[in-house]
Amino acid sequence: MSKQTVLMTSVGAYLPANVVTNEDLSAYVDTSDEWIQRRTGITQRHFVADGETTADLASHAANQALANAAMQPKDIDLIIVATTTPDNTFPSTATKVQHQIGATGAIAFDVQAVCAGFIYAVDVAEAMLRGGRGRRALVIGAESFSKLLDWQDRTTCVLFGDGAGAVILEITDEASDWGIRSSVLHADGAHRDILYVDGGPSSTNDVGHVRMEGKEVFRHAVEKLAAVMDEALAAADMQPQDIDWLVPHQANIRIIDAMQKKMQLPSEKVIRTVAAHANTSAASIPLALATAVGDGRVQNGDLLAMEAIGGGLVWGAALVKFGRPS
Ligand code: UT7
Repeated sequence: MSKQTVLMTSVGAYLPANVVTNEDLSAYVDTSDEWIQRRTGITQRHFVADGETTADLASHAANQALANAAMQPKDIDLIIVATTTPDNTFPSTATKVQHQIGATGAIAFDVQAVCAGFIYAVDVAEAMLRGGRGRRALVIGAESFSKLLDWQDRTTCVLFGDGAGAVILEITDEASDWGIRSSVLHADGAHRDILYVDGGPSSTNDVGHVRMEGKEVFRHAVEKLAAVMDEALAAADMQPQDIDWLVPHQANIRIIDAMQKKMQLPSEKVIRTVAAHANTSAASIPLALATAVGDGRVQNGDLLAMEAIGGGLVWGAALVKFGRPS
């Protein structure tokens, strides 16, 4: 066992105030509350207000994670923001967050792995902490996904929402069975064209809109998430029954239910926030975690299983014993 432990000690979240229900959407999109709920489980989503940006959401979530950990911004050595909807093409959203929260001693950069961004960013942060790049990291998933939606495309525009979640990772110099127990990442660029944005600086010189072959993505999601969770469990020498909470990416309730079935978990061990948040891409896992810590379900010392898949395709899973040994 490694002589060090990377703990996940705190979580924070932020949702923009503007709530848009399925009914609201059906006033200007050819859809219905019944279709959206039956196919996805979504009932509402939050959208940013004019002038409110991804960095603003991320900074709110980061400040809450810091407050929950009773830490100061100067205690943070590393900020990674996982986002697909940065405020600017450059500089990174993470540098804006660093400035906004006053974490003047932290290095900062963004990670782009779309809906798997949080899982990727946690893995990168863990490796950097183990590599000696500091003691404490803020890992943030933050999105203004509403900015990428094509309101003429009902097959995608009803699926996404905006928000941010943040966790604090801390390295300690004792070996323990707390913190990140395993983390597994994958990528397969052969499937780039089933989920992508049809714009970008070097191709079209504009931002573009999200495009998705929903059925294909769904098929890959169920298959790949089950396989990567098996890998993460094997790497930690654990069984599904060791898991206290499945905290999955929140894209579609049917994908979440399929994972629950494959892992043979009782339904009450699965955190589901897709109904209230929709798919917030990189923000969805830390938002779900913050919800479950906030309502008292997730307790210090609980074993979390997290998984996500996104455009690329990229996917991954992580097992984390949450909190801090007393
Ligand atoms: O976060 C990254 C990962 N993303 C995902 O995991 C998303 C994965 N995919 C999905 O969640 C599902 O495939 C969707 C929710 C996107 C779509 O569900 P589906 O059961 O695969 O539906 P479908 O695309 O096959 O569409 C079925 C029907 C079609 O009509 P016809 O051709 O059968 O007459 C669509 O035109 O539903 C129609 N439809 C809609 N109807 C009302 C598609 N979108 C809508 C809509 N409102 N918004």
